[in-house]
Amino acid sequence: MDIKVDDSSLLGALDELAQIGAIEGGGCARLALSDEDKAGRDLVVARMKALGLQVQMDAIGNVIGLRPGREKLAPVMTGSHIDTVRTGGRYDGNYGVLAGLEVVRALNAAGVSTRRPIAVAFFTNEEGARFQPDMLGSLVYAGGLGLNEAYAAADKDGLSVGDELRRIGYLGAARPGAIRPSAFIELHIEQGPVLDEEKIRIGVVESVQGISWTEYTVSGVSNHAGTTPMRLRRDAGYLAASVNVFARRLAREMGGHQVATIGALALRPNLINVVPNRAVFTVDLRNTDEAKLKEAEARVAAHIAEVAKEERVAVEAKVLARFEPVIFDAGLVDRVEHHARALSLSTRRMPSGAGHDAQMMQRLCPTAMIFVPSVAGLSHNVEEHTAPADLVAGAQVLLNLLLELAERP
Ligand code: GLV
Ligand code: MN
Ligand code: MN
Repeated sequence: MDIKVDDSSLLGALDELAQIGAIEGGGCARLALSDEDKAGRDLVVARMKALGLQVQMDAIGNVIGLRPGREKLAPVMTGSHIDTVRTGGRYDGNYGVLAGLEVVRALNAAGVSTRRPIAVAFFTNEEGARFQPDMLGSLVYAGGLGLNEAYAAADKDGLSVGDELRRIGYLGAARPGAIRPSAFIELHIEQGPVLDEEKIRIGVVESVQGISWTEYTVSGVSNHAGTTPMRLRRDAGYLAASVNVFARRLAREMGGHQVATIGALALRPNLINVVPNRAVFTVDLRNTDEAKLKEAEARVAAHIAEVAKEERVAVEAKVLARFEPVIFDAGLVDRVEHHARALSLSTRRMPSGAGHDAQMMQRLCPTAMIFVPSVAGLSHNVEEHTAPADLVAGAQVLLNLLLELAERP
């Protein structure tokens, strides 16, 4: 029997969630564990319950909706995240969660039972925009970070994950990782330009590149911008600017998949006529190759040490996140490709440039990802867009693959 995802049901659900924390331009701001995130969570939990799912909340705020199977076996799990960056689009993460629920709706409507249960999850703080590390909920779920350490992660205002989870009512009772799936599949928008440029419908994701996030705090000396000779300056802002330029040149020189971003920078006192005495900035380095990522880290660190010495400023480094590249399960990757091709959708094998909950779940069970195109490769931007036909096609690949996996003994 052919079971079809329903266009208007999926697109309507995406529209509805996008109204929560809506920002100008069509995007969303639902930072992890904020009031907006709570409202988004409440909506998705209500949808899960309306679909008849058994809803479980764990001690790090991950939420899992379970559709029982005919047999008491480990479930096949799908899912993603519903938190966003402050300038987020409406599809990043949300699409994977709501497509998972659309699969459940379609199975319910067709009256189909599966041998294994099917679980649809959303994980806490995937984005890492408010609390670090990113992929926090799935990392805890996979056993990569203890609860107490996760609870202690604090945002810029000193509010902690533990307190914020309690405040919004999402500190659940279940032990993270208590449900160990037989397989995990995450459907996500590509967030990069490859599929759109090559006019390919489905990305068959083989791996996720390694991620290195470091925050640097630079201490110099404030002084008068007009009277302080250049030779006497101890300018914290100069180091930050120099690292930004260096990181760009380094990524260009290394080529391949190396990328480098200085995405956050704060100067103090941040005044036109005062040499900054403090700079806090972040460095985000990523590469599909661990050895190359290590090389990039070492070269950035060496540059910082050299400029700090010349400028006579002190530097403190704090690692905010560090994850090695992840290779997905080859057998499952093949099945993603198979189901896309069976629907006559063009495919391309590719690594993921962005971080995903799936990279944590691969520690627990065989995992793979399905990508759909992002128009012009825009993401973490309110203009993030994927054509409705692509959203529906990706969800259909997910449905067909989950059905296969859920019948496996
Ligand atoms: C998460 O969205 C990341 O890749 O930064
Ligand atoms: Mn995402
Ligand atoms: Mn994101």
